[in-house]
Amino acid sequence: MGAKSIMHASRLSHSFDYTLFEDIDINIHERESIAVLGVSGSGKSTLLHILATLLRPQSGEVIFDKGYLYEQGDKKLLEIRRDDIGIIFQSHYLFKGFTVRENLEISSIISGNEIDLNLIKKLKIEDTLEQNVAELSGGQQQRVSTARVMLKKPKLIFADEPTGNLDHQTANDVMDVMLEYTQSQNAGLFIVTHDENIAARCDKIYRLQNKRLMLVG
Ligand SMILES: Nc1ncnc2c1ncn2[C@@H]1O[C@H](COP(=O)(O)OP(=O)(O)O)[C@@H](O)[C@H]1O
Ligand SMILES: [Mg+2]
Repeated sequence: MGAKSIMHASRLSHSFDYTLFEDIDINIHERESIAVLGVSGSGKSTLLHILATLLRPQSGEVIFDKGYLYEQGDKKLLEIRRDDIGIIFQSHYLFKGFTVRENLEISSIISGNEIDLNLIKKLKIEDTLEQNVAELSGGQQQRVSTARVMLKKPKLIFADEPTGNLDHQTANDVMDVMLEYTQSQNAGLFIVTHDENIAARCDKIYRLQNKRLMLVG
């Protein structure tokens, strides 16, 4: 305990055609990993988008770095998204037609951080560096996305089904990399997954069910 809070969200509610969730509170601390489990359609991705600066909740608030996230101007919100938030999406927004190395270099140039070959090796993508990302398997693309996000050194990493396309061993390797990152960078990790084994590796496990977020582990 005693770890600093990075993000605090309170009383979040959101609906599309029907109410997805109501009155959700969540806190993310430095060096803390949080997993959210839930069936498909329960609103996991929507919750992740709200916390990750991408979607204004219909009610409730998100506090990041002492400020109300959705009361910041567009410019400030973009800055937070660029500098402090790393998002690993279910579908990979890599630059198709470019190699893995080029995709990583873009992130390196934007962030001013060097490509960490150790990280590339741990993610087992060192042999793919000169390949066009479009030629890679879904699992390889997922790991390139993970490397690219980490290169930026965000304060919070949000990952939507980060191990969805991976075999058991590789999924655990990716979790190792993300969990080590939270410790070495004093960062927070928020993942949504339907894999109970992956969730079990996080400090806290919630389940999104019946429109509520319940702590289950
Ligand atoms: N932008 C949107 N517009 C309308 N409905 C949406 C939108 N995003 C998600 N939904 C709906 O909200 C529900 C929950 O979606 P989602 O948050 O993606 O759930 P999960 O990630 O748990 O599968 C789904 O029924 C989905 O169709
Ligand atoms: Mg989803």
